[in-house]
Amino acid sequence: MKVLVTGGAGYIGSHTVLSLLENNYDVIVYDNLVNSSIESIDRVEKLTGKTAAFIEGDICDKKKLSQVFQNSKIDAVIHFAALKAVGESAAIPLSYYQNNVYGSVCLLEIMQQHKVHDFIFSSSATVYGEENNVPYVETMKLGTPSSPYGASKVMVERILADLALSNNNFRGVSLRYFNPIGAHESGTIGEDPKGIPNNLLPYVAQVAVGKRDKLSIFGNDYPTKDGSCERDYLHVMDLAQGHVAALDWLNRHNEFSGVEAFNLGTGNGVSVFSIVEAFEKASGKKIPFEVSPRRAGDLAAFWANASKANKELNWQANRSLAQMMTDTWRWQLNNPNGFLI
Ligand SMILES: NC(=O)c1ccc[n+]([C@@H]2O[C@H](COP(=O)([O-])OP(=O)(O)OC[C@H]3O[C@@H](n4cnc5c(N)ncnc54)[C@H](O)[C@@H]3O)[C@@H](O)[C@H]2O)c1
Repeated sequence: MKVLVTGGAGYIGSHTVLSLLENNYDVIVYDNLVNSSIESIDRVEKLTGKTAAFIEGDICDKKKLSQVFQNSKIDAVIHFAALKAVGESAAIPLSYYQNNVYGSVCLLEIMQQHKVHDFIFSSSATVYGEENNVPYVETMKLGTPSSPYGASKVMVERILADLALSNNNFRGVSLRYFNPIGAHESGTIGEDPKGIPNNLLPYVAQVAVGKRDKLSIFGNDYPTKDGSCERDYLHVMDLAQGHVAALDWLNRHNEFSGVEAFNLGTGNGVSVFSIVEAFEKASGKKIPFEVSPRRAGDLAAFWANASKANKELNWQANRSLAQMMTDTWRWQLNNPNGFLI
């Protein structure tokens, strides 16, 4: 079975390509490398001893996309390609809507033209917005996220629902990721943010190797156990395997058409202070930090009800918090400059 993976050179994409190759899928990666390096795919190939085709291209380039579908018989698409920095999305919203929403529309249009109907979308817990109570469950209504990034994910989920209503052949899966962290256990692929990391773990890891002075913890007066924000962190390899589970689910359910959403998380909220403590334990390094004011738009705490994915996809986030920390540390230590060699 041949799978087109947009954004496959990125953080979650590269780990998923590895899992797909390990499970004997043929893979074509389509990525414009705006936030990644082709080195990630080279390393995945070395790790698996298998090859993935790579095409450098933009999802907004319909001509190029169309050629890809023309040249290969693609059975399913996993769509990671997107811009993902919440703060940046407020500064340049039009770029986010162009890339994440228009780009998805282009991809879906070309898929329709070539009669490819199986589609797995990288959605996010952010689609639950501020209105829903935790733990988040898939039966809740889509919320109103505070950032253009979050709004772009809600928009694409709505587009998928409308497409499914208009086309009985369409088979969509929205995977709502909670907070992926960690790296492949080999320490050869991992998250390689360009510039100042937006996410907690890469920042903590860069403080540990001395690239940054100290961590800012945004708010210690939230109504949580220790006052810091709580998130549902899951290991990126568990998340990668969630995509293989979703493809297997589509393959098992020939009769299915429509769109189905699944939460991919552990079901536990972990605080920022707990992350710092766990990372210090795994690395043996002290993480200097300061408490800064709350950031606009940050929710106090959210975590998944992941029982639908557990039951229907036969998927579970099995790796422990300690392993997430050890694997992040191994990746950071072995690759202080990320994929730059
Ligand atoms: N990392 C998270 O915490 C998280 C959480 C929830 C959802 N997601 C979603 O998961 C997906 C993957 O996230 P990631 O963390 O791996 O990010 P990433 O930036 O590492 O990967 C995204 C990839 O898409 C590529 N890309 C971006 N725009 C493109 C375009 N127009 N055409 C072709 N390629 C393009 C980038 O070069 C990159 O390789 C994204 O859709 C993101 O919104 C991520």
